[in-house]
Parts: sequence; structure tokens; C-alpha cells
Amino acid sequence: MIIVLIQILFTLTLSNRIINPPVKIVEETFTSNDFYRQASEIIEIPYGAYPGVFAIDLHQRVKGEISNKSINLGDFEKVEEDLLEEDGCYSIQRNIQISMKLKLWLDKSGLTRDIYCTDVALAEKFRQAYVVRNDFKIIQVDLNYGLFQLLLNPIQTSFANMLDYDEDNTDYHPYLVSDKKSNKIFIFTTNGGLSFESNQKKEIEFKAEKEIKKRDKIYNVHYNEKHQLIFVACGYEGVDIYKINNGNLELLMDISADYLGIDSQIVDVNSNGEDQLYVLDIERGLKFYWIKNLMELVYEFTIIISHAHSFDFYDNTFFIVAKTINKQDFAIEVFVNQVTYDYYINNYFFDEMTINDVNVFQYYAVLIGDDGHKIIYHSVYQGFLNENLVSHTTFYQADLVKVKEFEFEGEEFSNQRIFAAISKYEFQMINIIMNMPKIECKYKDPGVRQFYVKINSTSCAEKEKEKNLNYQFTLCNVSHSFTFTTTELAGNYNTYAYYTLTLYVLVVVGIWLVVILYYLIKKWGYKIKYLIWRKKIVDATAPYNESFDIKETELPEAKPK
Ligand SMILES: *[C@@H]1O[C@H](CO)[C@@H](O)[C@H](O)[C@H]1NC(C)=O
Ligand SMILES: *[C@@H]1O[C@H](CO)[C@@H](O)[C@H](O)[C@H]1NC(C)=O
Ligand SMILES: *[C@@H]1O[C@H](CO)[C@@H](O)[C@H](O)[C@H]1NC(C)=O
Repeated sequence: MIIVLIQILFTLTLSNRIINPPVKIVEETFTSNDFYRQASEIIEIPYGAYPGVFAIDLHQRVKGEISNKSINLGDFEKVEEDLLEEDGCYSIQRNIQISMKLKLWLDKSGLTRDIYCTDVALAEKFRQAYVVRNDFKIIQVDLNYGLFQLLLNPIQTSFANMLDYDEDNTDYHPYLVSDKKSNKIFIFTTNGGLSFESNQKKEIEFKAEKEIKKRDKIYNVHYNEKHQLIFVACGYEGVDIYKINNGNLELLMDISADYLGIDSQIVDVNSNGEDQLYVLDIERGLKFYWIKNLMELVYEFTIIISHAHSFDFYDNTFFIVAKTINKQDFAIEVFVNQVTYDYYINNYFFDEMTINDVNVFQYYAVLIGDDGHKIIYHSVYQGFLNENLVSHTTFYQADLVKVKEFEFEGEEFSNQRIFAAISKYEFQMINIIMNMPKIECKYKDPGVRQFYVKINSTSCAEKEKEKNLNYQFTLCNVSHSFTFTTTELAGNYNTYAYYTLTLYVLVVVGIWLVVILYYLIKKWGYKIKYLIWRKKIVDATAPYNESFDIKETELPEAKPK
């Protein structure tokens, strides 16, 4: 039903939509490897160092012939302990793992049903997070303890008196923009805007930002950090674009919806920071404009989709969140060719969860729902993916509003990411690990085994060479052969283990014997001595006294010497 509805929405106009993309396959072969290990040792072959590897398919080679049977761990629940039990090689696909979550309940600070948090700004340099509420208050969260502890600064700073806050208005939704170059944070509201310096100090001092326009409604605010440009979507009123220059904010352009040729509401806006402007028209879809000479906008094309309410992108991959006619949320992942104006809908996300919003980062996107939130890898053409091998990572946080990545030093070389997730009443820091695809092998017996790995990658040396506009549809089909040789341990492993165990038992038993002996001697020492002494007597008198009674008798308290 839903699929049908979505299909209808898209089939209305197919101007630039590609249905059958031109798929190309580039082949590459890795130099083969010979790995040597002692029996029972585990070897791990990671494939993540080669960027773009998104799937691996492992096959054994028997007498030179590649077996048609894949040995992949499709079941992502399977833990590594299981692998230790069984002999063999297995491939484990890339996956995203949540490694740590730190939660801070913002309730203490007087949140009610009607008063809640709407946005977050991160000041990594000072390890501070600023959360803004719809009652025009800023709450400061101290992140100085890394991922071990979050501290809520008890001081909440109100800017209500500076922006004509009206208590009866529950529609406020302030937005925050953090400019790392000037260490300033800008607040955008329908009543105008302010800024404050992010620093270690507890006190926040607000400064009026006269350039920020009052608007009837603000639907979204996006910041292009590289070019220090701020984009504000103002519904029927159009789009405001601001530029930050040495910490000073100025209005660069305010573009009316009319000028953009839009007669419905503009609910989201962003730019690649160069010469492309993306405007989300609630009725017609995502519109692309060319920014000519900084002042003139030239319409290019539209990704047609109605009832869309937000979008985000990384490079040429766009995620758009919309509603079907019967109000069902869904999101689409779209590959856009901004030169030929073509687009391809690569993925639909619907049914399994409601989707309110999406935040897209370099490697992954977070789909924000009601019942749960999904972290997914993006930008891989569906035709190249084996769905059974794709893992999904989900987390839950009630009323999640937004996710922002917390930048840390060396992040680009790390497979870890930290993001702050702000919900209406909660602040969370979530640490994720992007586990690279890998192969693990272990054999208890010595032997030589050959393997063949089929690797699907979005990038490879051959592909980089060509200027390819449809790069998303070019697969790097990489193959890798390796031999895994296990050798016997010096000395038979079993014998060795047997001796170790025996030795251990002997030592333990020995210690116990000493302890018991000591105890016995302490308690029964005199009795033993008595028995030995009496035995001597018996032995000495035996020949003469056959009837000598050696029956136990009560021992005298005073022991014989
Ligand atoms: C693998 O090849 C064998 C022999 O050619 C064939 O019988 C079997 O069905 C194949 N299995 C799969 C999974 O393709
Ligand atoms: C790799 O890509 C091919 C070609 O599209 C596809 O048939 C295969 O299932 C993919 N392999 C994996 C492991 O995803
Ligand atoms: C990938 O390359 C291998 C080896 O050259 C070939 O057998 C296989 O058919 C290719 N796969 C695809 C999906 O083109």
C-alpha cells in the first residue's frame, strides 16, 4: 500500500529521475598474501584500510577451484566468542557499534510538558554543550570529563527579556549555530537573534544580533561551517542567508519565496557552500539553484516529492523526509548528479518506524523516529548490496530532536565518532565505532588452506583515475586471494597442556598438604608423638608381654616428654 503511494508520488513527473542507472564495474586485484600462524592462533584480516569497502564475500579454494559456497557471518548477533569455538575462516561485514552512551536528564531544570529543548550547539574547544529551550533559556552541559561524566551547570541563562518572549506562545523553536572560528554561538528565533561567546566561564553574556531578521515562522536553520554561511528556512517568507565574518554576523541575502518561484512553504534550506542552493518546497520537493555572482539565483531542477519536511546531505547523497498522503512518514536516499541534473532514488525507509528527521554525516546518517533511531551507512548503490549482509544499528531516546557530531582531534583517522543527541528532555553523548569488514581464521590442526575474497568497494585506484559523474553507479569489484598456513606448536600442544595442568594440580595439592600437615601438627602433634613413643615401648616389650593391650587409652593431659 505504502509502496504504491510512494510510487504514485514519484511517477507524476519523471523529468530527471533515473530509473535504470548506468552501472559500471571496475575490476581490481589485490596482491595475494600468505599468512602463517601456529595452530589454534587467530588471525584477523581487516579490509577497512582500503576506503570504500562495503562488503566482502569469502570463499574457500579447494584444489585451486573457488567453491561457490560463501562463508560469511550473516548473523550480526554472532559474537566473536562463537568463532573461537569453531575451526575455519569467516567474513564479518562492516557494522556500526554503539560503544558508550552517557545520558543526562534535563528535567531538574524546570522542564514541563510545554517547555522543552529544541536545539544544541557544541563548543568542542571548551568542552561545553549548550542546549536551548523554547522558553528562551540556555542550559550549559560540561563535557570536560570526556565520555565518563556529564555535568549540568545549574545556572540556566534566560534571554527572554532580550527577545520579547511571550509566555503564551508555545510555538517557539529557537535554533543554535556554533561558529568554531570565532568561538561564538548564535541564537535564531522568530523574534530575532542573539549571540554569546562559548568559553569555560559559567556566566553567559548575550549580545544582540540586529542583522537577524524577525520572521513569522522558522522551519529550519543550517550552518555551512566551511564557508561560514547560515541558511534559514522561513516558510512563505522565503530564505535568509547570513555570513559570519570574524565573528560578525551579517545578512547576505533574504530571498523571497516569489523570487524562487515557490508559492508554497519553504521548510528547509541548505547549500554546498559553493554555488549550489537547495530549497525544500513542502509541496513540490527539493529544488536546486545555481548561485550566480552571489546575488542571482538560477533554477536548475527539482527532486519531485510532496509533503517533504526536512532534508540533509553529504556530498551528492541527499536524504529527504516526507509524508505519504495518508500521513505515513518515510525517508528517501537520493543520489544527485548536480551537473546533468539527474537523480536516482536509491533507498526508501518506511513502515518499520516513523521518521521525523534525518542528520547526515560523512559516513553515516541518523534517521530520527518516534520509536527508535537508526544509524546507517549511506551512499552505496542498492544494486551492489546484498541486503542480507547489511546490518542496522538502532538506539532509543524518547522525543529525539537532533543529532550533532562532536569533533575531536584525530577524528579523520579514527573509526570512532561521538555525537550529541538532544531530545526534548534529555541530553546524550553517544560513542559509536565503525567496525571495518574483516576475516577471522583459526584452525586447531596444522595445514594449508586457500581462500578467495570478493570485495565490493565504492572506491579503488582504477575508479579514481576517471572523471566519472555517475560515480555512485560504478562498482569496484576487487578480488583477493590468500593462503592460511597453520603450523604445529613447538612440542605437541596437547602434551604441553597436559603437563601444565599436571604441574598446576601438583602445586595446588602440595600447598594444601603443607597447610593440612601444619594444622594437624598444631592440633594433634602431641598425640602423634605419644603414639610413636608408645609404639617404641610396645616394640621393646613385645617379646615378653604378648598380652600387652595396645587399645587406645585416654591420654594424660600432661604429655610425656
Ligand atoms: C555449487 O556448485 C555445485 C556443483 O557445481 C552445485 O551443485 C550447487 O548447487 C552450487 N551451489 C550454489 C549455492 O550455487
Ligand atoms: C557485490 O556486488 C555484486 C554485484 O552487484 C552483488 O551481486 C553481490 O551480492 C555483492 N556482494 C556482497 C557481498 O554484497
Ligand atoms: C568480479 O570479478 C571476478 C573476477 O574477475 C568475476 O569473476 C566476477 O564475475 C566479477 N563480478 C561482477 C559482479 O562483475
